[in-house]
Amino acid sequence: MQTSGLQTLPRRAFLAQAAAAGAFTILSPKTVFGTEANSAVELGLIGCGGRGSWIAGLFAETGLYRFAACADYFQDRVDAAGQKFGVPAAKRFSKLSSCQRLLEQKLDAVVIETPPFFHPEQALAAVSTGKHVFLAKPIAVDVPGCQTIAEAGRLATARKQVFLVDFQTRANPLYREAVARVHKGDIGSLVMAEAHYPWNSGGRGSPPATAEGRLRSWYYVLELSGDFIVEQSIHSLDVAAWILNADPIRAVGMGGRKLRPAGSIWDHFAVNYAFPGGVVLSFTCIQSIPEIRDEITCRVFGSEGMIYTDYFGEVYIRGNDPFKGGNVGNLYTTGAQTNIREFHQFITTGKYENPTVGPSVRSNMTAILGREAGYRGGEVTWESLVKENRKLEPDLRGVQA
Ligand SMILES: NC(=O)c1ccc[n+]([C@@H]2O[C@H](COP(=O)([O-])OP(=O)(O)OC[C@H]3O[C@@H](n4cnc5c(N)ncnc54)[C@H](O)[C@@H]3O)[C@@H](O)[C@H]2O)c1
Repeated sequence: MQTSGLQTLPRRAFLAQAAAAGAFTILSPKTVFGTEANSAVELGLIGCGGRGSWIAGLFAETGLYRFAACADYFQDRVDAAGQKFGVPAAKRFSKLSSCQRLLEQKLDAVVIETPPFFHPEQALAAVSTGKHVFLAKPIAVDVPGCQTIAEAGRLATARKQVFLVDFQTRANPLYREAVARVHKGDIGSLVMAEAHYPWNSGGRGSPPATAEGRLRSWYYVLELSGDFIVEQSIHSLDVAAWILNADPIRAVGMGGRKLRPAGSIWDHFAVNYAFPGGVVLSFTCIQSIPEIRDEITCRVFGSEGMIYTDYFGEVYIRGNDPFKGGNVGNLYTTGAQTNIREFHQFITTGKYENPTVGPSVRSNMTAILGREAGYRGGEVTWESLVKENRKLEPDLRGVQA
């Protein structure tokens, strides 16, 4: 089966090719050991769709970055982004090999905004060719993908490179303060948690019949998106896993496809997770319901109080040791802006601990565990999920290399 351009070329061969093309030798010590504080970081944008072109604007408006190359499967998208961000035509790459060709360029860092299936391989290749990495959630669609990201994060730290995963909640000061207080014991010992993701969007589509159509409407293709629970609801599971600060032991799931045609991803899941110490997390998500208020909420109860978080509202703690908190405002934008600013700070001050990688692997695995428990209509343990190590492979026959 034909897969992504990066996959069709074994990694060793790709790295050898990249080295032959000078991708390693052109790296200046400045790039490897931290870009000078006052120089613009040279960026490559991989994935010039909705999020890619939007977030590139946020990078550009800081004045701290300059886009020097861009890549997308579709020429019209790479041209639109290239024109908008002043990337010369010769540095705009299309088709499946576009990422690989971009990584052969002299760049300090890359911003990866492609469908999740491609994230692990593209991120690992970027780290391997000396680039700092800014990566969209979710990091992967399957367990092997999560492990590749974990490996890429470790490699980045070892090579003195920055690897940042863009979750907006983990960048917000109110979230950071409230969660730190919980970890310090302000709500006592944890008992039970809830996380929810009702969403009015998502559409009611089915996977297109053609390979290129699938790349355009990748969200409806399980192997490309990881399904709704991984691709979207990860935002609330990520907060729950962050607060609970542990891997779940097992999950019992249900759900299905009542709003979408056969063959598409699911539209609702209900999953109960068991965490160490007898802590229970009850999670639900549903999409494509008109006119409802979107929520990315999480509530965790402890022996002394409760933390509440909402991506579109308030963050606070009630109980014996309360935290007034407040409204997070436009977290969609401000969270990304903080991540963009911190990405630059880490690069220029040489901070390579890459603390967003571990939590992103954990929450992504948690979402995959919930998906698999839902699909199987029963219980799946974390241990068996890891042991199974099942890889999802999209059908990309007919896509141009
Ligand atoms: N709040 C958030 O953090 C947030 C919001 C929106 C999207 N995202 C994430 O951003 C990523 C992109 O989502 P989007 O909404 O921009 O999707 P999109 O479809 O609008 O853009 C993805 C782009 O990637 C291109 N592409 C597909 N395969 C490619 C490949 N192998 N190499 C290069 N380009 C390829 C597509 O042509 C498309 O232009 C996803 O991971 C999504 O979850 C995050």
